[in-house]
Amino acid sequence: MTPPKPQVRADKVSLWRYLKLFRQDLLSAQPQRLYRAWMAEFRTPFFRSYMINQPELINTVLKQRPDDFPKSNRISEGLRPLLGDSVFLTNGDTWKRQRRIIDPAFEGGRLKDTFPAMLAAAQACVDRLRSQSSSEIECEEVTSHAAADVIFRTLFSVPIEHEIAAQVFEKFRAYQREQPLLNLAAFIPLPRWVPRFHSAKTRRNAKEIRALIGRLTTERAAAISAGQAPDDLATKIMTTPDPQTGHRFNTDEMIDQVAIFFLAGHETSASALAWTLYLMALYPEWQEKLAAEAQILEEPSFATVSKLKLSRDVFREALRLYPPVPMMVRETTCPERFRDRDVPQGSQIVLSPWHLHRQERLWDKPDEFDPTRWGTENGKKCQREAYIPFSAGPRVCTGAGFAMVEGPLILSMLLRHFRFELIEGRTPVPVAHLTVRSKDGIWLRLVER
Ligand code: HEM
Repeated sequence: MTPPKPQVRADKVSLWRYLKLFRQDLLSAQPQRLYRAWMAEFRTPFFRSYMINQPELINTVLKQRPDDFPKSNRISEGLRPLLGDSVFLTNGDTWKRQRRIIDPAFEGGRLKDTFPAMLAAAQACVDRLRSQSSSEIECEEVTSHAAADVIFRTLFSVPIEHEIAAQVFEKFRAYQREQPLLNLAAFIPLPRWVPRFHSAKTRRNAKEIRALIGRLTTERAAAISAGQAPDDLATKIMTTPDPQTGHRFNTDEMIDQVAIFFLAGHETSASALAWTLYLMALYPEWQEKLAAEAQILEEPSFATVSKLKLSRDVFREALRLYPPVPMMVRETTCPERFRDRDVPQGSQIVLSPWHLHRQERLWDKPDEFDPTRWGTENGKKCQREAYIPFSAGPRVCTGAGFAMVEGPLILSMLLRHFRFELIEGRTPVPVAHLTVRSKDGIWLRLVER
């Protein structure tokens, strides 16, 4: 028994069929050979892209010469109405300046300060679930709610029930429903005559979300001026000057950044946690081990989290099998030569955590769930060289440390109070939306311990 994996397509299909499969789902549109390939080229009449699946090449793009491989503008097309000029979309000097202001807020010391808010969100999730014990629940909804709660509590010191927070969460769901294939434009550089993706409704939703976030940031700016702001991530980011220029984010710039913290911070963690819960139901012996370990949360503190070792290994393994961000795209700014192949300027370079984490030539038993692998030689080597759930290099996820506290903490809090059980006939099928989700949700039976 191995964890669910999407069916692969036949090796050779027509371009038309490929595009059709692609529209349905990015993952099942790919052939089996990509799990063994070091590199693959997609050549169509409209575009060329190259998937790289070899540690050395990924190293070059993400770590050694990141400035030569900026983020592909095509990603922005889908996300710009919501995210504006946020750090997720910018390149070059603008991006560097934004990171100089944002990074200090996520440093180790600050993480410790966010712990009480994370714990409160985890406890609130447990309390909400109590009323649903012995019923079948959809886990993605549960984890989305919890992860959004974490973001609002850590960023603005308000829970998800707060009037504006609740509205942002609700409207964001509507935005996603309207825009389920956000990433498509990045992978298929469509010719200009193909209509773009933003429907009037999508744009309206994005505008409303941004207006709500605007209210939060304006209120916060006023509280900072009055010397009455809580000491949370928003205050930290809004009061940190760029060490090189002294510039601070103004309210508008802050809206862009908050939008990405909300999006990148809750979608991804929610996806990872929901898959982890499914894996726990699939491997009950691991679930019991984690529940036993979670007893140390009787007296929770930031230091306790570092003792949740099994929980962290399991969460890490879930991030390997179901990396929330399955693929990333960069663009070449000059002609390159990869593996004796010419890669022209302006090509799309696809980095696929999904395929790299299951690369058959690198990982032992790549499709199996085995949290003990992180203690083996192969696991350690692969963790260093072929494991990029948070990307790598200077553009690595700002929230990686945050997510590695939040994920194991919420997981352990849930398993301490509940058992999650499989429901027959409800095997989830992974599909790539904005993050790796299940086609029809992740359904499990919840039993209070
Ligand atoms: C399990 C949870 C998470 C995963 C797997 C994840 C993964 C990623 C990945 C792969 C990227 C790079 C995307 C690319 O280059 O195209 C990224 C970027 C980013 N993430 Fe996360 N993330 C997670 C949680 C978070 C959290 C909790 C926050 C903030 C609170 C966050 C904030 C960001 C930001 C701001 C960026 C943009 C960084 C840049 O481009 O310089 N993420 N994340």
